[in-house]
Amino acid sequence: MNASSSRPAAWPVPTLNARDGGLWLEDLPLAEIAARFDTPTYVYSKAALESAFGAWQQALAGRRALVCYAVKANSNLGILSVFARLGAGFDIVSGGELARVLAAGGRADKVVFSGVGKTRAEMRQALEAGIRCFNVESAAELEHLNAVAGELGKLAPIALRVNPDVDPKTHPYISTGLKGNKFGVAFADAPDLYRRAAALPNLRISGVACHIGSQLLDPAPMAEAAEKVRDLVDRLAAEGIVLEHIDLGGGLGIRYRDETPPAVADYLAPLLAVFEGRKEELCFEPGRSLVGNAGLLLTRIEYLKPGETKNFAIVDAAMNDLARPALYDAWHEVVAVSPHAGEAVEYDIVGPICESGDFLARARKLAVREGDLLAILSAGAYGMTMSSNYNTRPRAAEVIVDGDRAHPVRQREAVAELFATERILP
Ligand code: LLP
Repeated sequence: MNASSSRPAAWPVPTLNARDGGLWLEDLPLAEIAARFDTPTYVYSKAALESAFGAWQQALAGRRALVCYAVKANSNLGILSVFARLGAGFDIVSGGELARVLAAGGRADKVVFSGVGKTRAEMRQALEAGIRCFNVESAAELEHLNAVAGELGKLAPIALRVNPDVDPKTHPYISTGLKGNKFGVAFADAPDLYRRAAALPNLRISGVACHIGSQLLDPAPMAEAAEKVRDLVDRLAAEGIVLEHIDLGGGLGIRYRDETPPAVADYLAPLLAVFEGRKEELCFEPGRSLVGNAGLLLTRIEYLKPGETKNFAIVDAAMNDLARPALYDAWHEVVAVSPHAGEAVEYDIVGPICESGDFLARARKLAVREGDLLAILSAGAYGMTMSSNYNTRPRAAEVIVDGDRAHPVRQREAVAELFATERILP
């Protein structure tokens, strides 16, 4: 970035900068991206992806560890290819995600497969690909996997995902490690289930996994979970069940507004201390912390609509493009791409969808006019992957910026594609 660039501290996207009265990502003006690819468009910074992954690698340097990017956060092949080249593993939750990882050049032997509802077909696909580990979430799944592996004449590597019952202190929809959750097996049941797994002929016990929630801002609950997991590993070893790896899941939070998440190294320090001097490989499944602040959603204001009690800026992106505000009341910073001189006015930023829940941000002060571009920040994680075609809206284009170059990594959908597989009745 050149000397004339500047960055207000409020911007959580690290490679976003202001130059010549406009907003740039790395060395490319966002206005140029909108002109070339139209809006709404998700725009990601390759440098930000690389530096986020680098922070994990540096914090784990000297420790036998594998960072498995949680594909659900953003599964675009372009993004996956960046991480594959950096040597990442991948955490998947479906056969579809496995296919994406392989198509993007990821290695099957670095893939861990999470999720409570793996189908037999997905198990078969993953066994044939030769994935690193199945994170098994129930007694019944152990039996299914053993049967499927037997049919294929293969040995399925497994970890049990245990539920450590700690409170991650995050949004209730995204906390997963409490007793009332559908995830993992109860901690107290784990030893029995490991014994059962050891007795099944087509399973190979490889490790243990746990994931307590997402957007964690405090490292303490994870450290508490790690201690519980370590004690379980020791207990199993005393019975002759020796684990090779310990998977501590994902969950590290990012700054959307004024949150103060720990740096990766500070988040990991107490966890690494728990496993100091041990030989198991550590595995992590970060999603949001690798992509969240590497991306933004670029949208254009269609209408400014003054109201009796509030003003609306109606934009061409909507809840189908970015569901987080509607779903979790999530805050995303909104920045005008080319702010005008003059007084800022308070707007609700809303989309064209026929639902009152269709808002992207509320009560934001902006000095904008019709036709202006807005950047919705911190939209790299759980943005595009949670998008839909509601209201028969084609999904957005996606672009990765690398220096002063823009790489289109997903074409905007065409309306005809949306109903190409539907049929009218004879
Ligand atoms: N591993 C497992 C087993 C998970 O369930 C998740 C996320 C991750 C890893 C990655 O977690 P992360 O590092 O991204 O926090 N849609 C919500 C987030 C749902 C997270 C689900 N599980 C949102 O938009 O905030």
